[in-house]
Amino acid sequence: MARVLSVIGLVLVVAALLSATVVGVDRGEERLTQPELGPPYALPADLSWGAAVAAQQVEHQQPSDWTRFEQEALAAGRTGHGEEPGVALPGHIAALDQAPAEARQYKADFDRQFTEDLKLARQHGHTAFRFSIDWARLYPRPGMDAPDPEGLAFYRAVFDTLRTLGLDPYVTLFHFSSPAWLWEEVGGARGWERPDALEHWRTFVSAVVREFGGDVRSWCTLNEPMVFVYNGYLEGVFPPLERRAGPAEVAPVVIRLLEAHTIAYRLIHEDAAARGREAQVGLTQHTRAFEPWRGWLVLDRVGAQMTAQAFIWDVLDALQTGVYRMTGTEVEAPIQGLAGSMDYVGINYYGRFYVEVSPTDLTRPIIHPNDPSDPEERSSDLGWALYPRGLGLVLDEAQRRYGLPLYVLEHGVADAADDDRLRQHALVTHLRELALARARGVDVRGYFHWSLVDNFEWAEGFGARFGLVRVDYADGFRRVPRPSLALMAQLLREGGISAELWTEHQALPPR
Ligand code: BGC
Repeated sequence: MARVLSVIGLVLVVAALLSATVVGVDRGEERLTQPELGPPYALPADLSWGAAVAAQQVEHQQPSDWTRFEQEALAAGRTGHGEEPGVALPGHIAALDQAPAEARQYKADFDRQFTEDLKLARQHGHTAFRFSIDWARLYPRPGMDAPDPEGLAFYRAVFDTLRTLGLDPYVTLFHFSSPAWLWEEVGGARGWERPDALEHWRTFVSAVVREFGGDVRSWCTLNEPMVFVYNGYLEGVFPPLERRAGPAEVAPVVIRLLEAHTIAYRLIHEDAAARGREAQVGLTQHTRAFEPWRGWLVLDRVGAQMTAQAFIWDVLDALQTGVYRMTGTEVEAPIQGLAGSMDYVGINYYGRFYVEVSPTDLTRPIIHPNDPSDPEERSSDLGWALYPRGLGLVLDEAQRRYGLPLYVLEHGVADAADDDRLRQHALVTHLRELALARARGVDVRGYFHWSLVDNFEWAEGFGARFGLVRVDYADGFRRVPRPSLALMAQLLREGGISAELWTEHQALPPR
């Protein structure tokens, strides 16, 4: 009998060990993919290279939901921040009261400086530029028959400058902000949930394609819908500052956004067909390498996998299949016209997050932005752990799932230092990942650094600085290029990462 028991015990132990190695996702020990592969690393010239910005973060304030939040938070003194960097306090914008009044109003002053900004990008080897068109700038008031002429004139000037400089525009239609009037209640609902929201969206998108369809080939309908929903409806750190009970309660918003995507996808393609032009339309997702907090614990490994599925892949799967299935819930929503409505997959990549399954609430894992017990790990000013290998993993996974062209539409680090050693390290190590992904057959076609210039970092205010170019808010928004701007130019000029540059930048800079 004792013998039988010990055999059963042994089987259980082996099964547990086995499941710990095969169930869920691994916690990567290496920070690089294929660390044995040395330089040089070739960066293909046929990629689109550039930087990205978004309207609410760089343009002068428009009457949007975000502008209203910014003004209300300031007036009410809600300018605190969470206990750790990168953890926003619900309803607050960190240190907004400390920012110069001009910065609050003019953000990065892109309106007056875009020509110089874009020239700088071009001079530094960029071939493309990603920006968003502000819905509130074209439709500042409800019920307008036509878009605001001044708003149109601004974007016309941006497009003309891009064309003159030879920068290919990558246009985003919804990057977190929308007109303030859309948030007045209609039929008991606000914002995207209003019964007439999609009608207004259709009006906005139709105007954009009518005016600018001849200028744009690459469109991104929605920027990071899950960040918008998570931050706006679960965490209360983005407008509409709600804290709903759980994932199923926010599903209606995700579904609305997917319907909005479908409408935009169709309008853009109809317009392009009528013009005899090509268009590529997709959306971009915020990605992280979600890995277990405790690598040995099956629960955390499975939790990490489910978090990645819910946060990154559910939406993209829906664009492929036409049905939105929300992981961990009963939600299963077929959406008409959604199937196949992506011509490419947009990837925004920001490092590694660790997932700890909470024993008290299995549906709400605790997310750690870094692991302080790991002496090898380095985080950005927002406390986000750098993890180059994760970019390779995400690109591989997207390629495996969809087999479509991939664009890294954002990648960057918050590094306020003038000599931005961490950003330079990140640029080189992440572009190595992109180069290796291409070399193993991943169809990645573009890289856009977040961001061109320092800007308004949402609930983090002006403290987190992501720019290849520093903005001196206290001195007329003066532009001061950081070394990473020249480094990116050198990588592009030389067509890759030389052994010399690799040696110089591969190691983490001293703290
Ligand atoms: C967003 C940007 C943001 C960046 C850094 C992305 O989630 O698209 O608007 O500034 O990450 O947080």
